[in-house]
Amino acid sequence: MDSSSDPVTITPCPDGPLLVRGDFTVLTAPGREETATDRRVVALCRCGKTGIPPLCDGSHRAVGFRAPAPPATAEPPPGDG
Ligand code: FES
Repeated sequence: MDSSSDPVTITPCPDGPLLVRGDFTVLTAPGREETATDRRVVALCRCGKTGIPPLCDGSHRAVGFRAPAPPATAEPPPGDG
């Protein structure tokens, strides 16, 4: 199986980064590629305190970042039901 066709998934870590898995490219600015994208998994900061944006450097722990709680029930996307 060709792993490059795997779907990209984004998983929020509780009170931490977004884990992006799959075949993707991170653009830090229009037309500019982030050099760490040769990896199949990266952690994107969502606390805003990282020293290596857009990647997570673990600073979320030091600042006590708390992610918003997900919805109690998942609503189907519009037009999906
Ligand atoms: S989420 Fe880890 S440093 Fe921001």
